[in-house]
Amino acid sequence: MPPTEGQPRDITPADIPRILELEPVLFGAESWNRGMYREEFSLPDRAYRGIDAGGRLVAYGGVLLAETAQVLTIGVDPDHQRRGLGSLLLADLLAIAVAAGAGEVVLEVRATDRGAQRLYERHGFVAIARRRNYYQLIGEDALVMRLTLP
Ligand SMILES: CC(C)(COP(=O)(O)OP(=O)(O)OC[C@H]1O[C@@H](n2cnc3c(N)ncnc32)[C@H](O)[C@@H]1OP(=O)(O)O)[C@@H](O)C(=O)NCCC(=O)NCCS
Repeated sequence: MPPTEGQPRDITPADIPRILELEPVLFGAESWNRGMYREEFSLPDRAYRGIDAGGRLVAYGGVLLAETAQVLTIGVDPDHQRRGLGSLLLADLLAIAVAAGAGEVVLEVRATDRGAQRLYERHGFVAIARRRNYYQLIGEDALVMRLTLP
């Protein structure tokens, strides 16, 4: 049975072409390429999830599963932003991290991206550090945010 539209599902290598359409729109010079996604999807300690709307992938994200889990990426098609999909996907990734036994989750976010920071704050993340020039291709700092899990 196909997954329910609007609900998170596992992402597979078959989703890579669609992800590569969205990457430059969402991440510009910091986009990941096909090789990076192929590598990511082959790693056993990763969980990648996506949400479909209208028969196509419109949101995707991934988490590294460890004692300190890490949200690796999260993106929503601009035509589908501000409808709760980013929040739904993040909650799904956090639930997977909890189920895998993580005690905390960290992530990096562009220091100027208040929208994404708001999303993370709404889920309990707190900024704990600043990494100067972390995004070297765009010359921007990162904020490191952390969430302690129950
Ligand atoms: C960040 C991102 C994933 C949010 O996805 P989304 O589906 O639009 O997020 P949601 O609709 O679930 O938003 C949840 C809350 O986050 C905050 N938020 C999200 N985007 C925001 C924005 N552009 N400006 C201000 N607040 C924002 C709001 O508090 C929002 O709640 P509200 O709509 O009730 O006010 C999306 O904007 C995106 O893909 N951005 C480009 C890629 C990126 O920067 N990813 C994050 C870095 S790893």
